[in-house]
Amino acid sequence: MSTIILGIETSCDDTSAAIIRNGYMLSNVIASQEVHRKYGGVVPELASRAHQQNIIPVVDTALRQANVGKHEINAVAFTRGPGLLGSLLVGASFAKGFALSTGAKLIEANHLHAHIMSNFIQEEGKEKPLPKFPFLCLLVSGGHTQIIVLRDYFEMEIIGQTIDDAAGEAFDKCAKVMGLSYPGGPVVDRHAREGDRKAFRFSKPNIAGLDYSFSGLKTSFLYTLRDKLKEDPQFVDNNIPNLCASLQQTIVDILTDKLVKASAATGITEITIAGGVAANSGLRNAVTALSEEKGWTVYLPEFRFTTDNAAMIGVTGYFKYLKGMFCAQDVVPAARFEDIGV
Ligand code: KG4
Ligand code: ZN
Repeated sequence: MSTIILGIETSCDDTSAAIIRNGYMLSNVIASQEVHRKYGGVVPELASRAHQQNIIPVVDTALRQANVGKHEINAVAFTRGPGLLGSLLVGASFAKGFALSTGAKLIEANHLHAHIMSNFIQEEGKEKPLPKFPFLCLLVSGGHTQIIVLRDYFEMEIIGQTIDDAAGEAFDKCAKVMGLSYPGGPVVDRHAREGDRKAFRFSKPNIAGLDYSFSGLKTSFLYTLRDKLKEDPQFVDNNIPNLCASLQQTIVDILTDKLVKASAATGITEITIAGGVAANSGLRNAVTALSEEKGWTVYLPEFRFTTDNAAMIGVTGYFKYLKGMFCAQDVVPAARFEDIGV
């Protein structure tokens, strides 16, 4: 018997729907919202309006690409939070309506947990080894930077997290200062390939334990640019690759330093990364190099599963379905992580 899940993701500015059959991805459609680009960041009200326009065509395309009829869906899994409330409401309302009209079960997914679960997405003919419990996940996105221990699919413990900005935010904010387009992370990554990562030194935080901080780096980056621009008004334009490479190296060093500490503290050597910043080539190379050095077994999610997507929601839904973890129609979206379980 097949178990078919429709996954819906609308937590921020990507409208996505995916079909997962028995843990295997059949389709994963993502409509990215270009409207925010000119504002240099996501505008919540515009995001929820765009989700409303996109949700039906995106789900329809996901069903067609998977060659699955809507009455074959056993359960619809949606992102309950954390995220932008107006955006979450669109996905949650659609999922409830879909479940009511088709008789499918309803499953809520925690967006952060789902990012981690992106490591479990399988594809026909492209089967890959899956992380073994317990494992550590470095979850790095535009809104979160956390080190999480996964003892089982639904048993997660955050053992380190940022006390201010997220890693993706550090990329995006520093990119904005350089006049690069939004979101800045992928742009910095591209320029960094041409630059010298030792060209500039930016300050690294001195935070005890496994927590992170990125606000000091942002300030140090800003002050460096301000001072150099006084001497040479063309400084930024003439140094983009070196600035990007040095910035990226600093962020990667900060991230991996605490990951090494977390592995030593817990004795866990199964390591995964997840979230938008997990697409960063510098981070992927650094974690891969550490696997040799530290004897870790490292699992890197495919690029298209690092940023927001519904396949990760669908796969989370699949594992919840197997455990009978359904939710009722009166479930409400939660903007904050603290208000939601796994
Ligand atoms: O997970 P995600 O799509 O959305 C959130 O849940 O936040 O992550 C988006 C973040 C943005 O800050 C973006 O700049 C960053 O991921 N990002 C990258 C790269 N690709 C996306 N940062 C660095 N290098 C990349 N290649
Ligand atoms: Zn995300």
